[in-house]
Amino acid sequence: MEISLSGKVAVVTGAATGIGKAIALGLARADARVGVIDISDKVVSTKEEIERMGKQSVAAVSDVAKEHDVEAGIAQIKSKLGPIAILVNNAGITSGAPRSILKMTGDEWDRQMAVNLGGAFYCTRAVLADMVETKWGRIIMISSVVGVGGAHKGVAYSCSKIGMSGLANTVTLEYSKHGITCNTLLCGLIGSPNVATLPEEMKKEYVTKRVPAAKIGDMEDVANAVVFLASEEAKYITGADLYVDGGAHLFTFSFAAKHLSFSE
Ligand SMILES: NC(=O)c1ccc[n+]([C@@H]2O[C@H](COP(=O)([O-])OP(=O)(O)OC[C@H]3O[C@@H](n4cnc5c(N)ncnc54)[C@H](O)[C@@H]3O)[C@@H](O)[C@H]2O)c1
Repeated sequence: MEISLSGKVAVVTGAATGIGKAIALGLARADARVGVIDISDKVVSTKEEIERMGKQSVAAVSDVAKEHDVEAGIAQIKSKLGPIAILVNNAGITSGAPRSILKMTGDEWDRQMAVNLGGAFYCTRAVLADMVETKWGRIIMISSVVGVGGAHKGVAYSCSKIGMSGLANTVTLEYSKHGITCNTLLCGLIGSPNVATLPEEMKKEYVTKRVPAAKIGDMEDVANAVVFLASEEAKYITGADLYVDGGAHLFTFSFAAKHLSFSE
């Protein structure tokens, strides 16, 4: 199956680097016109890379946690590329040092919820009217397995990520009849530049003991799933939580036992 997003305008948040950039490039390769949003002005380099591919792009420097920033960024993209058909809510942070719940500060809680979940809400609301009018839309949330599984010393991150599934499911209930789908990707450990800074020993232990696929995911694994969910071909898939984690969510004692001395 060859996927073409020709004629569609996509917006990717958090697209200056990492997974968001890989998603933006993947959508452009599938022929979408791609608007890229980030709090960092390095997002301009993503736009330039897309243009070097011979495709149209617009970059907007916006903080997705701020309602007016989001409205302005989406309006800027829409005025140059046209009505938005595809939104990928990728911008996310794990701010501050790891802290148990007793030590989590209100400021850290508020910022992570505001960026990870509030940002997804503002962006979703900003594009829905176009999608309802054109009777076609695709919204994809970039979430994490730790939304479901909890995050040791990362309560705000975990709660903000599981909240994205609630947002996606609500979009599905309210807007499916308008030809709009909304799905959530629950990512495991993905080899973004962020993850490259984690200790090698820790990653090795994680993939050996926790990931049936026995490796860290590539950013393109996420981008490929996004391109499919953004396509016409995925029109009957909505309200779904799709794991992009090499099977890590299936971790159980039976898988752990494989590493114990009594297993073969
Ligand atoms: N890398 C992983 O292993 C992994 C696993 C699960 C989920 N995720 C999720 O995937 C997404 C991308 O992860 P990554 O590893 O590429 O991270 P990253 O930190 O490399 O990229 C995040 C991008 O979001 C931007 N951003 C941060 N705050 C913003 C704001 N307020 N407004 C606009 N943009 C903002 C950053 O500038 C950056 O460009 C995140 O939502 C993350 O939670 C990543």
